[in-house]
Amino acid sequence: MVRSRTLPRWLTVQNSASINWMLSGSIWLVIGTTMGLILALQFVIPTLFSGVPWLVFGRLRQAHTNTVMFAWLSVGMQGLWMYLVPQLTGRRLWSELLGNVSMLLWNGAVLVGVAGLLLAYSQSREYAEMIWIVDVGIIASILLTMANLYMTVANRVEPKLYVSLWYIIGTLIWFPMLYFIGNVMWNPPTGALTGIDDSIFNWFYGHNVLGLWFTTGLLPVIYYVVPRETHTPLYSQFLSLIAFWGIAFFYTGVGAHHLLWAPIPDWLKTIAVAESIGMILVVVAFMMNIYLTTRGNWTKVVTSIPLRFVFTGFVAYVVVSYQGSHQALRTINLITHFSQYVPGHAHLALLFFSASTIIGGIYYVLPRICHCKLYSTLLANIQYSLYVIGFTFFFGGFLLTGLVQGTNWVHQGLPVYSVLPGLVPYMGLRAAGGILLYLSFVIFTANVLLTWLRRMPASRPEPPVETTPPSRSDRAEGGRP
Ligand code: HEM
Ligand code: HEM
Repeated sequence: MVRSRTLPRWLTVQNSASINWMLSGSIWLVIGTTMGLILALQFVIPTLFSGVPWLVFGRLRQAHTNTVMFAWLSVGMQGLWMYLVPQLTGRRLWSELLGNVSMLLWNGAVLVGVAGLLLAYSQSREYAEMIWIVDVGIIASILLTMANLYMTVANRVEPKLYVSLWYIIGTLIWFPMLYFIGNVMWNPPTGALTGIDDSIFNWFYGHNVLGLWFTTGLLPVIYYVVPRETHTPLYSQFLSLIAFWGIAFFYTGVGAHHLLWAPIPDWLKTIAVAESIGMILVVVAFMMNIYLTTRGNWTKVVTSIPLRFVFTGFVAYVVVSYQGSHQALRTINLITHFSQYVPGHAHLALLFFSASTIIGGIYYVLPRICHCKLYSTLLANIQYSLYVIGFTFFFGGFLLTGLVQGTNWVHQGLPVYSVLPGLVPYMGLRAAGGILLYLSFVIFTANVLLTWLRRMPASRPEPPVETTPPSRSDRAEGGRP
């Protein structure tokens, strides 16, 4: 445990790391989705902001994806880990100071990266666009987080290693390796290889950043919140381990399903398709486990705000995975690949599964570490409605646009320009849904900040470092052997 009495309290006090990660993530959410909204409107009004160089589609799209993925989702997710790991180990975070240093480093790196993208400094490799020096900052930050969380686990008083910890420990090993390799960091300043090799590396990384960062980083939040909020032990520890090892086995080799129409070796494509189908087994194991844990507590899913969001994330994860496995089949991919169907899948995954899980997680953790109630449950309920209604239109817009594009191009053989005018209504539907989603996110961030402003000191003095853990039933998962 590292401590200093001379540093400001917001860097050292218990739970400060978790709260600072979560607050900064929530602010990034509004920034990232403002960019998304402008993009969606540009599809309907192409001249919107024309003449403003940093708002042209090519720059803004990269800034949007990097902000929502590496600022909002990654920052919010790590804030949740900083709370979950101490809870599951019965120890305080090894070092709040270190947690805050890694938070500042990560936020600083992403700020430089996103500003760079808006100024046209890009490596032009999808999801690896931010310049090399930003990658160095991200790697340094994740290594500090790894040390901090591993030390917390190493010092644990709880003998059992809960399944959520398995996922977090695994994700912390996978991500630095994946980020280093995928960003070709040994090759500065371009951070790229040449030719088709670069595409293979790019999509090894591009896929695994989804599968071995957001997915394995957020399933532990579902595994934690569902048993806690339903007051039921996790149905089966065994099923959760099948799902864990299944992801590690099947998900790592599917990157080439993003390149089914590129001139890469055919065997690589076949492995990717087969493993994408194999993922169905993994998802079914996870789905049954969470369903059987929740069974009998459906009222709680409606009445508890954190559980409602987390459960929505769970359902979205199951649906997007089935969609993904089908989409990886060559015959379906032929129609969907070059169309808006793929960004539709991307938003179902990262907006409806990942963002929903993080929002639910933050609603769960924030009042507990601020020692006060959520600022407004009414606002949170309004937010949920806007979120679900908005997403329905938004996702519908993406799917319809994609299917019209794909079928017209492949079956009718029509050229791109002749299909475009017919797409405007669907693009409009997407922008309309996007406005509701945007409002929902603004309300969420306001609710988070207002809750934080009314925080109270802990009612009891903080326990010493060598504390005994709360009783087992107070904590998490539980579960069958
Ligand atoms: C069984 C699970 C899944 C399978 C088999 C799968 C399959 C696919 C396939 C085949 C594509 C490529 C489509 C194309 O370019 O034609 C794709 C794209 C994508 N997937 Fe999934 N998916 C799964 C789950 C997920 C999850 C859980 C996430 C996020 C957490 C995710 C996020 C994305 C994103 C962001 C893209 C767009 C990539 C791009 O920019 O082209 N997917 N997925
Ligand atoms: C948590 C929130 C969000 C996340 C995680 C997210 C993520 C993403 C990702 C990963 C892509 C790239 C998809 C691909 O290449 O297949 C993307 C593109 C896009 N996003 Fe978002 N997004 C979010 C919110 C929004 C919102 C609220 C809007 C609109 C109001 C929006 C509009 C767009 C548009 C228009 C594109 C470009 C699609 C294209 O190039 O064809 N996003 N977003």
